[in-house]
Amino acid sequence: MQDGDEIMSTACESNLKEKVEKLRNALHRHNYRYYVLDDPEVSDAEYDRMMQELIRIEEAHPELASPDSPTARVGAAPLEKFETIAHTIPMLSLDNGFNDSDIIEFDQRVKRNLKISDDISYTAEPKMDGVAVELVYENGRLTTASTRGDGVTGEVITTNVKTITMVPLLIQRQRTLHLPRRLEVRGEVFIGIAEFKKLNQERIDAGLSAFANPRNAAAGSLRQLDSKITASRPLEIFFYGVGQVEDTVFESHWELLQLLKRWGFRINPLIRSPITIQEALAYYRELSQKRHQLSYDIDGMVIKVDSIQLQQQLGVTTRSPRWAIAYKFQAVQETTVLEKIEVQVGRTGVLTPVAHLKPVNVGGVTVSRATLHNEDEIEKKDIRIGDTVLIQRAGDVIPEVVNVIMSKRSGAEKKFTMPQACPVCGSPVNRIKGEAATRCINSACSAQLKERIKHFASKGAYDIDGLGDKLVDQLVDKGLVSSFADLFSLDLETLAALERMGKKSAENLIDAIESGKRISFARFLYALGIRHVGEHVAVLLADQFTSLEQLIGCTSEDFRAIEGVGPVVAESIVGFFKQKQNLTIIRRLFDNGVKIVFKTQVKTNSLDGKVFVLTGTLQSMTRRQAKEMIEAAGGKVSNSVSRNTDYVVAGESPGSKLTKAQELEVQVIDEAALLELLGS
Ligand code: IVH
Repeated sequence: MQDGDEIMSTACESNLKEKVEKLRNALHRHNYRYYVLDDPEVSDAEYDRMMQELIRIEEAHPELASPDSPTARVGAAPLEKFETIAHTIPMLSLDNGFNDSDIIEFDQRVKRNLKISDDISYTAEPKMDGVAVELVYENGRLTTASTRGDGVTGEVITTNVKTITMVPLLIQRQRTLHLPRRLEVRGEVFIGIAEFKKLNQERIDAGLSAFANPRNAAAGSLRQLDSKITASRPLEIFFYGVGQVEDTVFESHWELLQLLKRWGFRINPLIRSPITIQEALAYYRELSQKRHQLSYDIDGMVIKVDSIQLQQQLGVTTRSPRWAIAYKFQAVQETTVLEKIEVQVGRTGVLTPVAHLKPVNVGGVTVSRATLHNEDEIEKKDIRIGDTVLIQRAGDVIPEVVNVIMSKRSGAEKKFTMPQACPVCGSPVNRIKGEAATRCINSACSAQLKERIKHFASKGAYDIDGLGDKLVDQLVDKGLVSSFADLFSLDLETLAALERMGKKSAENLIDAIESGKRISFARFLYALGIRHVGEHVAVLLADQFTSLEQLIGCTSEDFRAIEGVGPVVAESIVGFFKQKQNLTIIRRLFDNGVKIVFKTQVKTNSLDGKVFVLTGTLQSMTRRQAKEMIEAAGGKVSNSVSRNTDYVVAGESPGSKLTKAQELEVQVIDEAALLELLGS
């Protein structure tokens, strides 16, 4: 090439680069004007033309590609699986209120906690019925998006989220506006009602199954390994809060929302602030009327203390912030025919009558079963087989029968009687005086055993990936396990020989079981399945005791002395440890290699203030367990490496975080070194 040509081509390239930059900037700006300000500058056709031109140039010049380009909206190459990531700050859930007095009580609780008698200033927001996500922006660029997951860790869905047109890929820069180094912004992804109907019609026409409701459609669309599919779904988003925000201050939630809006994040225009608690109640009524005219589903209103300082003073519980509450809308009701009553046996042997209904659509969800709770409930409501009944569904709660439509009775309906023997194992059943529940007295009953194992393996407990309900049923039916302790002695050959199990899945399952052996005390207690000991109580107990022996040695009074533990819970814990077979199973867990990690055990080796970043797959624990242990020792787990990071823990196949750690000369340690630091 001659000199002249070279100069010419460089000039062309820089022209092209400039052109691409211009197109990208213009598309970003039009997006912002369209979705956030609701004030477009150009027609849709003009926008499409610019987008097509940019796609054309990028395809012809792959060297000009950029992850922030608006063309990222069309999706990228499919993933093999979703990575998981720890949220810097847990994504909590909300306490629910169902009537005005619940909300008044919330307001009084807030005032009592703050020792304030004046009116509190709140912000009231529609509660979007969609899927919660967290988006991380570093130096203004969207780098990671994840689902809420279990609140502590979520799945990385960055390429999928990038396909949502109203998600800014870059934070909007404005001269008078500071750009945070790191911003974690949270919002709800959803699908509008009309778009949902259209999507479902297309699916039915194509011979695919329809989604039950817009929320399921949104969740299903976000969890696609192929982001091109996500790109084809009409997903929307409203932002409503933040996780960690570096180097930016704001005094109120409302101020934060305004700031988010200026940065380019779409905020629901129906949010009201400042508002007193009485005004919030009036607004709730207004919103209950308005909800049917909205183009998307909302399932209630969220009331948040507006002042950030007061929010911090109030703090959070393990489940939810003390400064916010969801005021849920009335349940949706429908009538249908009760065709049959089946009796199910639960984890603690309780027999639960379940109504099989003629399928009916209740507020967008097809309902074919409803719980009847117990014998008394059926008698009180005089529910008979063949009755036409009114059923209701409230949010995620299992549908229930409200009452019988007596005018529809023909006389042919049949009364229900509770069986005298367990429908699964045939053992006698027992109903304790004063209790509503009827129980199968055989603790070896296979139905109970199955449910106990399912609970043991569930997310909040041992979290054994790959141990689904069907597999548990097989293991019990074939006599391969007779308690959850047996899970830890299963071998590869036995598992691989089961139905629907290949060698690979058997190996994965063995790995999952193996890595679950080391477990925090709270999860261990929850996994045991003690009646009335849910995740919350398990955390309370784990905070109090430094060994299992100490806990087992306690009396009911000792437990009642713990704040948050009532007499029923206390009795239940004592009763559980009194039973020999429970102690035997616990001993077998330890014999099979299970190790509990106690808070105090890790505290002795204080990691106070140390910041960790985890990358790659760990062997003896899940990342979530590692996070729990680090936090219990006073450390922090962040999901990105910066100069503030003290240690990067690298497991198998570490990602780009390892490279970044090396660049920034952050100390990299392996799992064994982490355990040493934790002192366990
Ligand atoms: S604030 C710490 N605001 O409701 C509290 N949540 O039940 C964070 N949601 O997981 C939540 N609309 O997915 C908040 N305006 C809103 C919301 C909202 C919907 C969802 C969110 C959260 C769930 C909690």
